[in-house]
Formats: sequence, structure tokens, C-alpha cells
Amino acid sequence: MTSPAPLRARHIVLGITGGVAAYKSAELVRLLVQDNIGVQVVMTAAATRFVAPATFQALSGRNVFVDLWDDRVENGMAHIDLSREAAAILVAPASADFLAKLAHGNADDLLSTLCLARDCPLLVAPAMNRQMWEHPATQRNAAQLAADGVALLGPAAGDQACGEVGMGRMLEPGELHQALVAYFAPRLLAGRRVLLTAGPTQEAIDPVRVITNLSSGKMGYALARACAEAGAAVTLVSGPTALATPPGVARIDVMNAAGMLAAVESQLPGQDIFIGVAAVADYTVANPSAVKHKKGDAPLKIELAPTVDILARVAAGARAPFCVGFAAESENVEANAEAKRRKKGVPLLVANRAQDALGSDTNAVTLLDDNGRHPLPAAPKLEVARQIVTHIAGMLAAAGK
Ligand code: C5P
Repeated sequence: MTSPAPLRARHIVLGITGGVAAYKSAELVRLLVQDNIGVQVVMTAAATRFVAPATFQALSGRNVFVDLWDDRVENGMAHIDLSREAAAILVAPASADFLAKLAHGNADDLLSTLCLARDCPLLVAPAMNRQMWEHPATQRNAAQLAADGVALLGPAAGDQACGEVGMGRMLEPGELHQALVAYFAPRLLAGRRVLLTAGPTQEAIDPVRVITNLSSGKMGYALARACAEAGAAVTLVSGPTALATPPGVARIDVMNAAGMLAAVESQLPGQDIFIGVAAVADYTVANPSAVKHKKGDAPLKIELAPTVDILARVAAGARAPFCVGFAAESENVEANAEAKRRKKGVPLLVANRAQDALGSDTNAVTLLDDNGRHPLPAAPKLEVARQIVTHIAGMLAAAGK
């Protein structure tokens, strides 16, 4: 009954039960809709005491259902029809009472009836006071639900609305979005270890000044996330960015090209795939000053020295992982990128126009490999990242790796 249908249906039922965390579900709906996932919200009566249905209606663009006897669906069978197009039902927040109902197969309102009558996977994100979560009855119910094939997302530990601290917080909306997508993502990189670099580097001129570039890190972080979704163990070596670490990704922060090289080399053993997305400085300051340069009338000379090409060095290593590079070019994009692919000795290179890619939320890229060029249309960076992961997995499979 609960074999994961592909999220390609890209439509879910989001059940909301009575808990303070219901306000976070508004943000969750926004994230899902942004990711092109249709959301049909179904609330319990208690949930409407926390957030009004109109909020979810506006964010999801669909009518919100609460009542088992609602006759707005075509054949008047809301408890069956609402889940039939859905790839999954996600209940977030799931209260202690709702977990108890699910565990016992109670069906006395629309949401619990939908859950019982479903033919798709059910995921629940518990949210409750820590004593309620730790109570043997709740633990029994959670174990029963897991045994019934229900996926439990969380809860997490932390501050609670009631002022106590402990287990019972609902996962954050971003984590739930990621968990939902990961649940359905094909496990294309299961069992693989992936090392990535992302973001800019900062080369110190003096203690308060740096040479850097306009890379935001968004593409590298999206790829790290897509690799994690695909089941890989992911380590991300990141230059300075303002981005949140994707869930499940181990992140190592570095400042400059030398620090990035050192971190990559220390993490390299045992990696299956290396993806160099970072805009590593090609030159570092040869003579950084230990004290702040004073302003003067004379020209200030800064001497630059070339940095090590991390990607080329990794690719040339004895037991090199499968290496993927990026090339941001301002003109003759594909010709320059293909030359770079050969020079650096990497099987796959992702080419894009620097003017389009840097800092932007979308990207149009061309993948270059021994079989030629594979253009991907402009799309949000996470979408592009998922397609790059699919391509990498295809190349590994073709090479029998
Ligand atoms: O030569 P260019 O800097 O355009 O090459 C870009 C690719 O090389 C990216 O994958 C980037 O992460 C990688 N690179 C590197 N170390 C450098 C310079 C670039 O790993 N020092």
C-alpha cells in the first residue's frame, strides 16, 4: 500500500493538526509551492484554532478542507478523492493525539479518514511537549506507526513553545521540505561519498581587506543538497557565504584558496566523487601585510601569486575520484569550457555564462563530456543540480563504477 510513488506527481496532501507549530506549516507550503509541488491542505478542527484556513488557502492556491462532510469535491467523497492524485500525505505538525489516532486506525474526522483510506505513503512530523513525546503511550504509538510503514520525520530537540527544552519540536520547514523530496528522490548516489567545494575564496591583503569574487555559493550548495537527496554522504568545503548548510551535509568552512586546498586534501581519501564548484581565487596575495595598510598618496603595489588549481590536482591524483568541474565563462562559453575540461583532465564539466550564473537563483548550463554537449534549460539552481546528479550517476553507471 505504501510503496513510494515518484514525487513526479508533484502533488501532496499536507495534513495540519492542532499544535503551535502549525504556523511553521505556512512556510512549508510556501517552500513546496516554490519547488513546484502542489499542496492540498487538510486541517483538523483543532488546527484551525492556531492558524486560519485562509492563510493556507492563499499560500497553496487551493481550497482548504476541514470537514468530513464537505461536498466541494466532485463525487462528495473528500475522504477518498483528496488523496488519490497525491504522491504522499504529510502530516505536519502531527500532535500526540493524532499519532494515537493513526496508530489505532481511528477515523473520526476528514484528515484521519484520509490517512486510513490512502493508497500512497504517509509521512508524519511529530510536534508536542517533550513529556508528551516521551510518554510510553506516545512512544508505543510512534513505534507502531513505524512498524506500519509510516515515515517519522523528527521530532527535533530544542526550545519549546511551552518554555521547556527537550525532544518534541517539529522539524523546521526547510528540513521537512528536504526530507519529503529526499524520501521520493531516486537513490542515484546511494552508498557514494561526495566531496564538493563551493562559494568564493577571500585572499587577505591585510587583516581587514581581501580579494574575493561575486560567487554566492548557491550552485555549490544546491549540488550538495541534490547529492544528499540522492543518498550520498556529502562533505562540503565552503568559502565564506551567507547560506544555510543543507540538511545532512557535513560542512567545513575555509577562507582562502590555500585553506580550501588543505581541507580538500584532508577529506579526499575514500571519496567517490569530487565536484569543484567553488570560484577559487586564481591568484593570492604574495605579500599580505600583518598590519592594516595606511592610506597614503603613493600607489600601493600588491603582488599576486598563482594558487594551486584544486580540481586539476585532485583529478591528477593516483586514486582520483570521479571529478566534475565548473566553468563560468564570459564569452565563447562552450569552446573555452571544453578546452578547460581537457586541460584539467576531468570527465565532466559544467559550463555557464558568468554574467548569468553569479549570484543568481537560476542557471542555464551545458554539460560537457566525452560524448559531447548536453544543454540544460534555464531553471532554479536546485533543479539544475538534480539534473547534474542524474547525469553523473548515468556516467558512473555507464563506466561500470
Ligand atoms: O580555470 P577556472 O578557474 O575557470 O576553472 C574553474 C573550475 O576549476 C571550477 O570547477 C573550480 O572550482 C576549479 N578551480 C579549482 N582551483 C582553482 C581554480 C579553479 O579547483 N585554483
